[in-house]
Amino acid sequence: MATAVTEALGTRRPGPELAALGARVAAALAVVLDRELRGTSDAVAGPVRYAVLGPGKRLRPLLLLAAWRAAGGEAGAAPTEGDPAAALACSVELVHAYSLVHDDLPCMDDDVLRRGRPTVHVRFGTPAAVLAGAGLMPMAARTVWRAAGALGLEPVRARRLLSILADAAGAGGMVGGQLLDLRAEGRATTREELERIHRGKTAALMAASVRMGAVAARAPEEVVERLGRFGVALGLAFQAVDDILDVTGEEAEIGKTSGRDVALGKATYPSVLGLEASEQVSRELAGLARRELAGLEDTRELELLAELVVERRR
Ligand code: IPE
Ligand code: IPE
Ligand code: MG
Ligand code: MG
Ligand code: MG
Repeated sequence: MATAVTEALGTRRPGPELAALGARVAAALAVVLDRELRGTSDAVAGPVRYAVLGPGKRLRPLLLLAAWRAAGGEAGAAPTEGDPAAALACSVELVHAYSLVHDDLPCMDDDVLRRGRPTVHVRFGTPAAVLAGAGLMPMAARTVWRAAGALGLEPVRARRLLSILADAAGAGGMVGGQLLDLRAEGRATTREELERIHRGKTAALMAASVRMGAVAARAPEEVVERLGRFGVALGLAFQAVDDILDVTGEEAEIGKTSGRDVALGKATYPSVLGLEASEQVSRELAGLARRELAGLEDTRELELLAELVVERRR
């Protein structure tokens, strides 16, 4: 597993710190999916499993778990069966997996390659892809609810977790950002507009991931907010790198068809600022994110994730 996380991010650094978190996420994801798909026909379970279990980086659940630990969650947890913090972390990966399935649809980015394999609609057909994506949202909500119970969280905190995830996934977050992204195709955009799009479609879920980790750890509000700012800056840095890799990355490495953003006339950091300035901005944003970590207890894993976001090759 030591290599699984780092290989997934396309860089050999760093090793053991994140490997342990990666192993927890992988194990929990298998358990959560088995439970959620029990009794479900293969027609639905097939595309759902394919969408979720492909070789993704698992960055969002890693962020949630790392934030949970940085906010003292591990230290304060009463021993329970299983790994409820990792189960909670899976909820954000389920939302992310759904967003990718829909993002690739012919009516959206019309992509045929994802994580080095045919996209879900290419493999299973568009109706199955639409429905598998839609099915992942309620699974994510139930996963939050169950994990909150297993963590022994008070109902007010469980509700808060659900509300953070719903806000990030919904019209004011990812879904809204995705629509703005499509609306901006083929025309010039300002940096301000670009960042509004990227904040919605990408940074909102990353910020939600770290905020949920903090809420689950019963962190004070100030820490939740601070991690939220970390997540927004890191999410923008992440999308800047995604935009850059679409231009500079090799298909075999990024696992996606390169050059799609230019082909679709997407609003991206390179299209608005140029490649060199985009690289600079991604580093600045990651630096901004890391400065928000000052004063938190053990931020090593979050620091490493912030480094990987800019160093990654896929
Ligand atoms: C891709 O996200 C979609 C964006 C928000 C740019 P990731 O690059 O995290 O995708 P996986 O999960 O590793 O495949
Ligand atoms: C997708 O952004 C963001 C979401 C899926 C919400 P992109 O369209 O840039 O992601 P890729 O490049 O297809 O992974
Ligand atoms: Mg897109
Ligand atoms: Mg896309
Ligand atoms: Mg992209």
